[in-house]
Amino acid sequence: HDHLLSAGQLTREDIEAVLDRAADLAADPGAVSDRYADTLLALCFFEPSTRTKMSFDTAIQRLGGDTVDMGTVESSSVKKGESLADTVRVIEGYADGIVLRHPSEGAAKLASQFVDVPVVNAGDGAGQHPSQTLLDLYTIRERAGLDDLTIGIMGDLKYGRTVHSLAAALTNFDARMHFISPESLRLPRGVQFDLHDAGARLREHTDLDEVLGELDVLYVTRIQRERFPDENEYQQIAGEYQIDAETLERARDDLTVMHPLPRVDEIAPDVDATEHAAYFAQAHNGVPVRMALLDGLLGDGDDGGAGGGAAAT
Ligand code: CP
Repeated sequence: HDHLLSAGQLTREDIEAVLDRAADLAADPGAVSDRYADTLLALCFFEPSTRTKMSFDTAIQRLGGDTVDMGTVESSSVKKGESLADTVRVIEGYADGIVLRHPSEGAAKLASQFVDVPVVNAGDGAGQHPSQTLLDLYTIRERAGLDDLTIGIMGDLKYGRTVHSLAAALTNFDARMHFISPESLRLPRGVQFDLHDAGARLREHTDLDEVLGELDVLYVTRIQRERFPDENEYQQIAGEYQIDAETLERARDDLTVMHPLPRVDEIAPDVDATEHAAYFAQAHNGVPVRMALLDGLLGDGDDGGAGGGAAAT
C-alpha cells in the first residue's frame, strides 16, 4: 500500500495531482462517487489536534465514509503501556487507513512497517507533517502561485514539522526560501542537508525586515513549547518574532500571511481583518485537500482519483 510519510516523497506531479483534484472537489463537493460508503478511516492521535483530526474526519465523511477514533492516549490502552506497533496492528483490522499523529519522530514510518493499510503521517514529533504541506501548497497556489515564489518562513524552524515538510515540497517548485528565526531555532542540520541536496535556494535571517519587502508569502509558525527540553529556554524566546498590522505596512500590498495554526501570539489579531491574512482559509482548505489525498491513497485510482500512486513511499 501507499503511505504518506514525509513531504520529500512527493514529486511535483504528485502534488499537482492532489491540488487539482482538491480544486475540483472544492468547486463541486458533490462530485464524489459512492465507493467510500463502506470505508472507515482510523484516527490515531497521540497528541492534541483540532484541525488535522477534524478535517480528516470531515474529509472522509464528505467522501461518504466514516471514522473510528482511538480517542486520546489517556482514554486508550496506550495508557496501559501498549506499544505503537501493537496498537496499529489491532487498528488495521478495524479500518481501511490510519491517520497517525505521535510525539516521536519516525512514528508513522514505523507504524507503516507493521500494517497493510495506508498510513498518513499527521505529525511525528518535530519531524514531518506532509498533509499540512499539501493544504499549504494549495493555499499558496491559490493566493500567490507556486511559480517564481519568494517565501519567508518564520518562527520555530527547529521543532516546526510543518516547516520541514513545506520546505522539502517547495524544492519541487524552485522557490526562493528565506528562513527567519532566532539562532537557536534554525533549521536542523539534517533538514538543511536534504534541502541542499534537493537544490533548494535558501537563506537564513534573524531579522524579518531584511526580507519582508521581497516576500510573496510569509509563513509564520508557533514556537513549539511542548518540544523544548528546558522551559527556561522557551521563555527566553517566547514573544519574539511576532507580527502585527503595523509590521505589515512594510510589506508588499499583495503579501499573503499564512500560519498552520494554532497561533499563540505570533500574529496579532489586528492582522486578521487585513487582506494579507490567509490562515483561516488555509485551515479550511484542509478539507478538499484531504479529500483528494484520501481519494488517492484509499481509492483504486480508476475513476477520477488523484492517482493511486500519487503518494507512494
Ligand atoms: N495545523 C495543525 O496541524 O493543527 P492541529 O494541531 O490543530 O491539527
